[in-house]
Amino acid sequence: MKIASIIGARPEFVKEAPLVKELRKRHKEIIIHTGQHYDYEMSKVFFDGLNIPEPDYNLGVGSGSHGKQTSEMMIKLEKVLLKEKPDLVIVSGDTNTTIAGALSASKLNIKVAHIESGMRSYDRKMAEEINRVVTDHVSDILFCSTNIAVQNLRKEGITKNVFNVGDIMIDAVKQNIAIADRKSDILKKLNLKTKGYIVATVHRAGNTDNKENLLNIINAFIISKEKIVFPVHPRTEKFMKRYGIYDQLKNSSVIATKPLSYMDMIFIEKNAKKILTDSGGIQKEAYFFKVPCITLRNTTEWVETVNDGWNILTGADKSKILKAIMNFNPKGKQNEKYGDGNASRNIVNIINRISLCS
Ligand code: UD1
Repeated sequence: MKIASIIGARPEFVKEAPLVKELRKRHKEIIIHTGQHYDYEMSKVFFDGLNIPEPDYNLGVGSGSHGKQTSEMMIKLEKVLLKEKPDLVIVSGDTNTTIAGALSASKLNIKVAHIESGMRSYDRKMAEEINRVVTDHVSDILFCSTNIAVQNLRKEGITKNVFNVGDIMIDAVKQNIAIADRKSDILKKLNLKTKGYIVATVHRAGNTDNKENLLNIINAFIISKEKIVFPVHPRTEKFMKRYGIYDQLKNSSVIATKPLSYMDMIFIEKNAKKILTDSGGIQKEAYFFKVPCITLRNTTEWVETVNDGWNILTGADKSKILKAIMNFNPKGKQNEKYGDGNASRNIVNIINRISLCS
C-alpha cells in the first residue's frame, strides 16, 4: 500500500520513529510534515536523534490561531493528498495536525487510521479533546493504547475496526532508553545528580495563556526551593516574559533550559525524583519509569496513571502543587502496562491484513 503519515508536532515525531521502521518493511510510506512545529529544538532535533527519514513534504504552516493553523494545513494537505493518492493516511494523538490530517483525508474518501485513539479527558475546553473526538469519529481504523480507550470509543458508538495495540510511545522509550543511558550527558552538563532534582514542563494553553495559572505554577516552582530542571516550550517563554516572571527564575533554584532532545528528555525523566507536567506523553513516560508525576491540570486522559496512584492532579493550584512536591511519594503496584513495547508491530500487522474496501 501507499501510506501517508501526517505529522507536525513533537509527540508525533516521537510516535513516528518506531512506526517508520515497521511500516517500511512492507509498504511505501510518504511523510507529510505540516510544519506546526518548526524551531530546531521542536522539530529537526527529533528527526536527527531518532533517525526519522526526511519528510517528503513540509507544508511550512507554522503557528497561528486554531482556525488559521488548522485550515491552512487542510488547504495544503488536500493538494498533496490529491496528488499522491495514498491508500491510507495515518495520524496520531490529538494535535491540530491530527485533526487537519484526519479531516482532509476523510473528505477525500481516503481511509484514516488513528493511533492513540479513544483517549478522553472529558474536558471540552481543551483543544486537544476536540481534536481527539473529531478524529476518532472520522477514522476507519482506531488503534487504542488501553482497554479504557476501547471502552470510551464504545460509549460513543464506535466499535468497528477498534484494536488495543498497546502504546506506541512506550515502544519509543523501550527502543531508545539504553541509547540515552549511554549517550546523554545532560546530567553532567547541568551538574545534576541522579534522583537529586525534579523535571518540569508546562505548555498547555490553559496554563500558559492564563496569567493567573502560569504565575501560580512558576511561583510554586520558585517557592519550593527545589532544584527543578525546566525545559521551556517557546510558547511558555513568550508568556512568562509577557507576565514579567521570566527573569525571576534567574535568582531561583529553577534551571530553565531550551526544549531538550528526545534522548536527553527521557534520560532526565528516568533519573528525576519527581516530574511536574501538563503534557500527556510525559505522564505516561513518568509512569513507565516509576517516577511520581504531579500533573498541572484538573483532568487527564491517562486515567490509569492516576487510578494506580502514580499521578496526582493539582491543576494550577499553588498550594496543591507545593504540597505534592513535598509529600507525593507513591509506591504502589502498577496495573497498566501500556502494552509491551510492540505497538508499532501490532499496528502494521493489522494494517497488513485489514480490508480497506467498503
Ligand atoms: C501542540 C499541541 C499539543 C501538544 C504540543 C506538543 C495543538 C492544539 N497542541 O501544542 O497538543 O502537546 O504541541 O509540544 O495542536 N512555537 C514556537 N516554535 C515552534 C512551535 C511553537 O515558537 O516550533 C510557539 C509559537 O509561539 C506558537 C506556540 O508555541 O504560537 C504554540 O504552538 P502550537 O503548535 O500552536 O501548540 P503547542 O503549544 O506546541
